[in-house]
Amino acid sequence: MMSQRTFSIVKPDAVRNGHTGAILAEIEKAGFKIVAIKKMSLSVEQAEGFYHVHAERPFFGELTKFMASGPIFPMVLEKDNAIADLRKVMGATNPANAEEGTIRKKFATSIGENAIHGSDAEDTAAFEIGYFFAGYELK
Ligand code: PPS
Repeated sequence: MMSQRTFSIVKPDAVRNGHTGAILAEIEKAGFKIVAIKKMSLSVEQAEGFYHVHAERPFFGELTKFMASGPIFPMVLEKDNAIADLRKVMGATNPANAEEGTIRKKFATSIGENAIHGSDAEDTAAFEIGYFFAGYELK
């Protein structure tokens, strides 16, 4: 497959617990180029905009409050088959179901506080990259 971009976030739990560097190392070891990255904090309103597709789900309030609870590292990643490959490296949403060696198996503490986000499809990756980064930041 051709080179593809995906969007990822090191979530507040992982930043708080001092796992940012280890997670970035796992991502680079898996062959991803970090195209863009920054440290920032989200307001609850900004988190709600990002997760708008989940607005009707019962955990929406918990998820958006958590994502606004501390600094995050949003980033754009690139490699062949990036969207699917990042999801493999991340592991299952619930760390209890994540395979050995995955980022969530190593660093996530619960289904809510699960260390990393990764886009699930091309259209969501495009929306998510545009939500956090301007075109001139994506060299
Ligand atoms: S996924 O990755 O979209 O297939 O997973 P999904 O189960 O649809 O979950 C979507 C995002 O919601 C988060 N999530 C939760 N947060 C808090 N509490 C509960 N119970 C919960 N269940 C799911 C999950 O971590 C996903 O966040 P992202 O940032 O997309 O990984």
